[in-house]
Amino acid sequence: MLSPEDNELLCRVGPGTPMGNLMRQYWIPALMSSEFPKPDCDPVRVMLLGEKLIAFRDSLGRVGLIQNHCPHRGASLFFGRNSECGIRCVYHGWQFDVHGNCIDMPNEPPESDFKHKVKAKAYPCVERGGLVWTYMGPRETPPPLPDIEVNQLPEEEILILPSLVECNWLQALEGEIDTSHAGFLHFGSMMPEDTQEGTFLHYTVKDRAPRYAVVDTEYGAMYGAYRPAKPGYVYWRIANFLFPFYAQPPEGVLGYHVQMDALVPMDDYHTMAYIMVRKHLDENGKPIRLPMQGWSDKYPPIQVPMLPNTTDWFGRFRPAANASNDYMMDRELQRGPDNYSGIRYLITQDRAVQESEGPIYDRSQERLAVSDAMIIRVRRRLLAAVRALMENGTVPPGVDQPEVYRNRSGSVLLPEGADWIRDTAYLRQAYVEHPELALQQPQP
Ligand code: FES
Ligand SMILES: [Fe+2]
Repeated sequence: MLSPEDNELLCRVGPGTPMGNLMRQYWIPALMSSEFPKPDCDPVRVMLLGEKLIAFRDSLGRVGLIQNHCPHRGASLFFGRNSECGIRCVYHGWQFDVHGNCIDMPNEPPESDFKHKVKAKAYPCVERGGLVWTYMGPRETPPPLPDIEVNQLPEEEILILPSLVECNWLQALEGEIDTSHAGFLHFGSMMPEDTQEGTFLHYTVKDRAPRYAVVDTEYGAMYGAYRPAKPGYVYWRIANFLFPFYAQPPEGVLGYHVQMDALVPMDDYHTMAYIMVRKHLDENGKPIRLPMQGWSDKYPPIQVPMLPNTTDWFGRFRPAANASNDYMMDRELQRGPDNYSGIRYLITQDRAVQESEGPIYDRSQERLAVSDAMIIRVRRRLLAAVRALMENGTVPPGVDQPEVYRNRSGSVLLPEGADWIRDTAYLRQAYVEHPELALQQPQP
């Protein structure tokens, strides 16, 4: 449970808010490179931390992320003409480059030097691994980009699944670090006899109330959820929260699986989730089945059908099953033996519960239990970091330590009595290959 004041402190991300200031210390995924693939192509409306911005790619292929309202008299630069190395406002023709400099002011007399005095707000951008990263913070020279393994791989080796979440970012993050919901929301209808003996899923559905170990780390927090496995072994699901809005879920084989999920706040009531995962390849380098694709009615695909993108501020990557149609839930399916919620697609199941908490959930109303240990820990870490920045100007974790993001998460069987932190350290390191794990799949 949180006081209404602390809840506000954690959830609000607009300019000048304490959490907004914290987020602005970091590089932030703004959009995908594929959303505006070519020089001089159509600009894109991007809502980020409560700010309306226009993304455009100039004639040289450089990326700009500029304020929506033209500095002259406020017309939207979304309607701008994107050509000749800049975006030109269609109202009076003022043109801005990717740095926000006014490079042409054709409605002013030629002797006027006013254009040199006008600058639009434009945030620096870097493209890496299919994402456009931006820095919206106060430093003249931005900090280094976080060293996120999946974002450093060649684009053909990874899968990025973006999807709009219609609620506050913290609800989306808390859904990601909440391991005990998997045995209900996602696999509540899966019985041990439906799964293959010895698989991770088998142990998950055999014991739906895991015990938790939670620790602070330099990048945020880590949990291990553990339950009995085959005789002499314990099944551990190890996952991370990384400042300010990343999660690494415990899916996949620890040491082989490479994933990072970013829950990027668009404003206080909308979040863009980017699931980034390395493709699983066979010995010949061919992609093999991902958990994303699903196996059966009881283990549906994670990837959801999407509506076509629109140019609206919230028109990007909208799932077809959403709040407006009750997530296409099927009561007959729910009554039957195959699907606990009656909602198809794993991500949709998550969205239904997260969004149904409300645009910003009032956490003074909740009753936290033992299974919420990770959520409690992460809130404490975030609150402490927000307060330290607000009161003492303390730079939050990870901003100047890109190397702390070099982590993996996943599932592993450890002998009873093993030290889960020490004995998994080598498997949790990014960029270390363990080929012997490649074909060990956590499938039903
Ligand atoms: S409002 Fe943009 S040039 Fe006048
Ligand atoms: Fe989930």
